[in-house]
Amino acid sequence: MNVLVINGPNINMLGIREPGIYGTQNYEALVAICEEAASACGFTRVECFQSNHEGEIVDKIQQAYGSFDGIVINPAAYTHTSVAILDALKAVALPAVEIHISAVEDREDFRQISYAGMACFERVTGEGLEGYAHAIRILAHHLSSEA
Ligand code: DQA
Repeated sequence: MNVLVINGPNINMLGIREPGIYGTQNYEALVAICEEAASACGFTRVECFQSNHEGEIVDKIQQAYGSFDGIVINPAAYTHTSVAILDALKAVALPAVEIHISAVEDREDFRQISYAGMACFERVTGEGLEGYAHAIRILAHHLSSEA
């Protein structure tokens, strides 16, 4: 059982970027949280991928077909704009969990729409980086109940 964790634009700037919203931990800390949670949940492999480019995220989702059991995705700003990422998630039809570090539902109007979320079976928001561990546990539970 393996999981792909995808992060979109500016998530590589964690620790520097708006710490009042996204906290002071960096991207390496996020990767460590995912690795620990995935291994605790019994995943044999976790890959963490980050890109600032929409097409690269679409490519990565397509490549997940046949090689990953599920996806945890924070499309970041592309959440609110990208039909291409939504379509890629629908195309591979892998179980996916949407994650946001901040409580997007309490923020600006333009953050209220989530295209990617339309292809995800669950959503985690406002839990900081620990939200990734929560999302991985949700995915593991879903996959074990599917089996
Ligand atoms: C975010 C929320 C998005 O609105 C924003 O564009 C991000 C990060 C989050 O994790 O809280 O880049 O996805």
